[in-house]
Amino acid sequence: MKRHTNTLGRTTLVLASATLAADMSMAAWAEYETLVAMGYPAPKEGELVHVPPTMAALEEADLHPELKKVIRRGYDLFTNTQQLRGENVFNDMNCSSCHLGEGRQPFSAPIWPAAIILPNFRGKNQHVNNLEERIAGCFAYSMNGTPPEYGSDDMLALSAYHQWLATGAPMYPDQPIYGRGFPAPERPEELSYARGEQGYLDNCAICHSEDGSGLYEDGEYVFPAPWGDGSNNWGAGIVRTHTAAGFIKNNMPLGQPLSLSDQQAWDIAYYMTRQERPQDPRYTGDVEETLEKFGPTFHKNSSYGEVREHDGHRLGDHANWGEKGEEVKPWNVGQSRFEDMED
Ligand code: HEC
Ligand code: HEC
Repeated sequence: MKRHTNTLGRTTLVLASATLAADMSMAAWAEYETLVAMGYPAPKEGELVHVPPTMAALEEADLHPELKKVIRRGYDLFTNTQQLRGENVFNDMNCSSCHLGEGRQPFSAPIWPAAIILPNFRGKNQHVNNLEERIAGCFAYSMNGTPPEYGSDDMLALSAYHQWLATGAPMYPDQPIYGRGFPAPERPEELSYARGEQGYLDNCAICHSEDGSGLYEDGEYVFPAPWGDGSNNWGAGIVRTHTAAGFIKNNMPLGQPLSLSDQQAWDIAYYMTRQERPQDPRYTGDVEETLEKFGPTFHKNSSYGEVREHDGHRLGDHANWGEKGEEVKPWNVGQSRFEDMED
């Protein structure tokens, strides 16, 4: 077993086998034991297992007080992104609405992997991205907004939070990362919109409401909107059916992860991703044309442009940008890089 220890005394383990996991720090082991007891898979042989430090550990850490302030600010922006509403955020989401457990939780797209695998080539925009650009992507699509400037205080704070969560993890690991992303269960042979709708009404509507608009209480969002104007736009990763199925299976209903069958999770994902939401910021003015350009890299996995059977509605065929209207364009979308670099 290889073991990387950092100054915080936290450990990143490269497990030779799951049975060797007893070598983990007590706290880390307790966290993984809980996950396995809940039904999540145990780490597989050769997987990189990393337990990100908590905010409590930050207070104990031997870091410059100014850096601690910036990391705290990043945490605050990540968990209460609504403070940037109207400026960078134009829907009802916080980053932590999808990245549960403050961005630390396995199988809920923990965010620290981005800090150790980037800079790297990204298929979605076909060039090499760094951490800031990855964060900017979630602002443009998942938050239906426009990102803080590269190098700005808010961007620095968010990057610092991501990087700090990666403390002790090896840079450019040559192993798969345990619990990364929203891994989808195996796709069942047949998906049903009607079953998905019923499943949503039975398991989800109590919090997210029947019409998918979430729940507002005393002017504050309690439950985010899985579709509609308050939700992510058509360019967000979670509109891909398999990503939605993985998110739902591993994380919802809140507090009862893994309680739905694979068929239920996929049917509900199928239903949820066939509802309207703000337009993809890459929209060219025409769904067909947008599909031609971004089908191969992205929309082949979403229902964008499909005609809904029960009412004949063509998904994404509109110029509704949600709260940001037509005026606010995410400045990072379509920005190419290294065009003058020779092969
Ligand atoms: C609507 C849901 C949603 C919201 C809100 C959201 N994200 Fe994401 N995020 C995703 C999805 C989906 C992925 C891709 C996961 C995958 O590919 O399996 C992702 C991936 C990421 C990654 C890359 C993780 C990795 O493993 O490389 C980072 C970093 C990230 N998001 C940061 C943020 C930040 C910062 C915010 C807030 C500004 C945010 N996200 C808001 C859904 C969301
Ligand atoms: C007990 C209330 C509750 C139930 C039931 C519930 N959710 Fe959620 N859901 C939440 C909360 C709260 C969040 C945001 C997480 C956070 O802020 O910690 C969330 C986040 C989400 C998100 C990501 C953000 C967004 O709005 O797009 C999706 C998608 C989602 N839930 C879908 C579902 C589905 C599908 C079901 C049913 C299988 C479900 N939820 C059941 C409370 C619930």
